Amino acid sequence: MSVDPATDFIGKHFHATTSLKMDLSGSLSIVLGQFVPFLQEPVRQLMLRVPGSADRRLEETNSAMSGLLDEIVAERAAQADRGQKNFLSVLLNASESTEAMRKLLTPDYVSALTYEHLLAGSVTMSFTLSSLVYLVAMHPEVEEKLLREIDAFGPKDVVPSSDELQTKFPYVEQVVKETMRFYTASPLVAREASEDVEVGGYLLPKGTWVWLTPGVLAKDPKDFPDPDVFRPERFDPESEECKRRHPYAFIPFGIGPRACIGQKFAMQQLKLVVIHLYRKYVFRHSPRMEFPLQFQYSILVNFKYGVKVQFIERKN
Ligand code: HEM
Repeated sequence: MSVDPATDFIGKHFHATTSLKMDLSGSLSIVLGQFVPFLQEPVRQLMLRVPGSADRRLEETNSAMSGLLDEIVAERAAQADRGQKNFLSVLLNASESTEAMRKLLTPDYVSALTYEHLLAGSVTMSFTLSSLVYLVAMHPEVEEKLLREIDAFGPKDVVPSSDELQTKFPYVEQVVKETMRFYTASPLVAREASEDVEVGGYLLPKGTWVWLTPGVLAKDPKDFPDPDVFRPERFDPESEECKRRHPYAFIPFGIGPRACIGQKFAMQQLKLVVIHLYRKYVFRHSPRMEFPLQFQYSILVNFKYGVKVQFIERKN
């Protein structure tokens, strides 16, 4: 059976983002690398020669994805009027603006940036939205408050402006944040010391890798009392809990100069999607969904079997 190009692309993209496992379900090179780090790369090189191995399948998927993206970039680059309002066109227009930009934004680099944005901004968003729908369906009091705020904004066909998204939907924002705390899409963030540095009394020599764990911080009862309770109000800026919290306790988008570049865009998009969804529907868990939910951990977290919900159309 032939698969249409979009489904094929999404399938490959999904495989590329979910197969880079950090635990014992990873490829042989990753599993070995956890115990004997220096063996990881040589074993990976070896496994790349073994047809059907997880390392080889990942490599094949990644190069197929890069090939597809190269084609998309080349096609867009050849368009005389490619517009200015989408990510790829902005990059391509910039790459043609000056000699320095032409040298910096080579076709390879443009493809890599496009891939990075695609990877970074899709599974994270879909996981967060699915988690939100799943969690809200379990908490009728949250659902009621959410619907009240969304309905109070006005007619269903009015799209909120970006200002209104910031000021008129404080509870939607709290629900989004609490969802990201409860199920953190990106549980690990890595840094490499570019020089010897002392952190908290430990000397980290140049080259040391440090793993930050936003997902663990998000469940620390010091900053989030009753961490296993889903309570969006803990993100109300007026609440004592919020005022007391350490400013870096909640870092679902990472931290510092390499934090998520799409953070503001992501928050805006998440709020807008939530508003549109809940204007029309509420959601209930499908009996076909497993309980408790199972997750798979790779560079990002995802649901092992998805989140299965019933859409219930709202009457008014
Ligand atoms: C719920 C949604 C999202 C979450 C939870 C998320 C989370 C993250 C995290 C944790 C990082 C690593 C930060 C660090 O190392 O300190 C990151 C990096 C990044 N994100 Fe996001 N992200 C989301 C949405 C997006 C979107 C929508 C885009 C693009 C439109 C995007 C683009 C990027 C890029 C390009 C990087 C790499 C930045 C760099 O290395 O300088 N992300 N994201």
